[in-house]
Amino acid sequence: MSSIQTNKFSGKTAIVTGGGSGLGRAMAERFAAEGAEVVITGRHEEILAEVAKTSDKISYLVGDMTKDEDVAALADYVKDKFGRLDILVNNAGWCPVVPIQEVTMENYDQAFNLDVRAVVNLTVKTLPLLIKARGTIINLSSTGATNVAPNLSLYCGAKAAIENFTRGWAMDLAKDGVRVNAIAPGAFKTNIWNVTDLDEEAAKAHEAGIVNSIPLKRMGDPREVAALASYLASDDAAYITGSIYKITGGLGQ
Ligand SMILES: NC(=O)c1ccc[n+]([C@@H]2O[C@H](COP(=O)([O-])OP(=O)(O)OC[C@H]3O[C@@H](n4cnc5c(N)ncnc54)[C@H](OP(=O)(O)O)[C@@H]3O)[C@@H](O)[C@H]2O)c1
Repeated sequence: MSSIQTNKFSGKTAIVTGGGSGLGRAMAERFAAEGAEVVITGRHEEILAEVAKTSDKISYLVGDMTKDEDVAALADYVKDKFGRLDILVNNAGWCPVVPIQEVTMENYDQAFNLDVRAVVNLTVKTLPLLIKARGTIINLSSTGATNVAPNLSLYCGAKAAIENFTRGWAMDLAKDGVRVNAIAPGAFKTNIWNVTDLDEEAAKAHEAGIVNSIPLKRMGDPREVAALASYLASDDAAYITGSIYKITGGLGQ
């Protein structure tokens, strides 16, 4: 794990959507430990408040990123409270597990409203602040964008869109000094894996099967994604834009 540099992001402000759990929480805690003011968002106040208790650098605004008014409120909150935005992490996401034979348009809307539309919406609404700060955007993709798995076509389709938005925005925003990259994780143990209908025994067998398919023979630790995000948001990555970083333990090569 890379070491924490406490002043790395001093004076900077970050938004991490879905910062109450999993990868988002690990990234929020890392940016805060490295000196940034971090605003997290999600739909459940008690979860966000718990994370905010861990650092006086972390504040929160409850919001559903699929609702236009909540996205606008988040952008306004950061503008009013901090007057700047240096790091936008579009992390909140959901992984529906549905074979195409059973997909409904409700499934489609649920997946694409959060995994794609919300990302575009928050990015557009925070762009004036990001451009002013010559900031950076990190989008969360998935190895599924390029290594498709059964029953995940909605998710893999949505994340594939995120990868090309990342490349396109990197081109559009280069002249404004805003870098845009994506992180494409493999398998990290977070709540996103709790959505299957499997009983405990079958879920364990499912997880063992996943671990066995990973060359490094373990699932990732969310802090490993946070270390990568910290690098991509820093000046060390000043020449990196439009890149998609896989972090998979070798899965899906
Ligand atoms: N874990 C993995 O193995 C893995 C692999 C590849 C990609 N990813 C990507 O990594 C990102 C983070 O996932 P995770 O694994 O950390 O899962 P997670 O723990 O389930 O986190 C998802 C977060 O998104 C928030 N969220 C969900 N719906 C929302 C909405 N409508 N508005 C605002 N926030 C919402 C959730 O909070 P509330 O429910 O409280 O709103 C939660 O904090 C996702 O984009 C995911 O696709 C994860």
